[in-house]
Amino acid sequence: MASIDLQARIPNNVDLANNRRLQRALEKWQPAYLDWWNQMGPEGFQASDVYLRTAISTERGGWANFDYVKMPDYRWGIFLADAEEDRVIPAGDHAGTPVWHEVPGEHRNALRRIIVTQADTEPASVEQQRYLGATCPSLYDMRNLFQVNVEEGRHLWAMVYLLHAYFGRDGRDEAEDLLARRAGDADKPRILDAFNQPCTDWLTFFCFTMFTDRDGKYQLGALAESAFDPLSRTCRFMLTEEAHHLFVGETSLERVMRRGAQLMKQDPNGDARAQGGIDLPTIQKWLNYWFSYSIDLFGSEISSNAANYFASGLKGRWHEAKDYKEHKALDQVYNLDVIEDGQLKTQEVPLRNAMNEVLRQDYIKDAHRVLERWNKALEEEDVPYRLSLPDSRFFRRQGVYAPYFFDPEGNLISEETYNAKIGDWLPTDADREYVASLMQPVNEPGKMANWICPPKRGINRQPVEFEYVRAD
Ligand SMILES: [Fe+2]
Ligand SMILES: [Fe+2]
Repeated sequence: MASIDLQARIPNNVDLANNRRLQRALEKWQPAYLDWWNQMGPEGFQASDVYLRTAISTERGGWANFDYVKMPDYRWGIFLADAEEDRVIPAGDHAGTPVWHEVPGEHRNALRRIIVTQADTEPASVEQQRYLGATCPSLYDMRNLFQVNVEEGRHLWAMVYLLHAYFGRDGRDEAEDLLARRAGDADKPRILDAFNQPCTDWLTFFCFTMFTDRDGKYQLGALAESAFDPLSRTCRFMLTEEAHHLFVGETSLERVMRRGAQLMKQDPNGDARAQGGIDLPTIQKWLNYWFSYSIDLFGSEISSNAANYFASGLKGRWHEAKDYKEHKALDQVYNLDVIEDGQLKTQEVPLRNAMNEVLRQDYIKDAHRVLERWNKALEEEDVPYRLSLPDSRFFRRQGVYAPYFFDPEGNLISEETYNAKIGDWLPTDADREYVASLMQPVNEPGKMANWICPPKRGINRQPVEFEYVRAD
């Protein structure tokens, strides 16, 4: 089961050859996908040889396959993690009973909605990032961008497979619509807000892979705990790919921070910008913006949908099966800070209704783990400046805090104070212009843009100077 049929027109480990109807349907979708990729995928470089990894098996080490590939020839396919024997439903009212191998009628709409919402983010991010190749800070970074892009394309395949295989006509229609929406389009935008934001500079790309892909990690983690076994297996394999995207975000931001610190020390006035770098306060603003945008993606703090998804077993908590002993989450409360009579007060929310917030808090913990590593790097660079992540109430556009104004520490403030300070907290037009002005391509193997440190090591044990992308 673990080996992948790479020679098939659609590489897969789901025995597609023995399901002719499904195979035909997906082979019909394939040219539409390629059209979309050619139209909306990375601008330029489609004829370049890119040093990419391709999955050849879903077992450990199945990733070790690196080679030069032209992106349109990437072997996009359908790979599910191996089935767990005797797997039981991890969460909710039916926890402990056998998982589903088909979609139960009563959960069909909810499951379809969950899958489509996840699926929509995959092509959206490719669209958002499509112009970045032209301004890469190094060939190493350009290769990482393209690796992320082709894998987001594969994630779309993973979700479209579920739609085609388990949702009949509706699923096929949804699969078509996934290629019709466009990130940032006024008439046919992508479903979630963060996936309509422009991503035109590399600092944004690194924040996106750090924070927004990390949201993906937690959403996929919740779906990996689903009672619907094909969804669980699909998401488990996607998580192994996602780990690299997060690596790109974390380590690249650290390289920008280190460089900012070094240039700050070099400058007689301690001004990294005067030395052509990105100063740490500017990086802080980008962190504030993308952290806040990304935690919105978890949904409202108090949510009856979240309660229903948990109750019916469609989603679980992060590592539900592994880390929790009690899987029903009944007769328990979550203490949530809410605004009452103009003040922050703690409210008891039934735990199931707070599942979005439970997942968000796991995410926030994970993000703080990375923050600590960054601050250690700044300590190593011997500068006193430290970075932070804003409170989860700051700059929210969704959920119970959205109607109010908070500072980055989470204190309730007036709208006037907020408006007076917002330019200190979030990127201003001038900041964006400055960062944009640094985005000049560096295409020589081993060379780095002045505003970023080289990586500690190359990809797949290749040297940093390796020619990760060969121009066409
Ligand atoms: Fe993805
Ligand atoms: Fe990703």
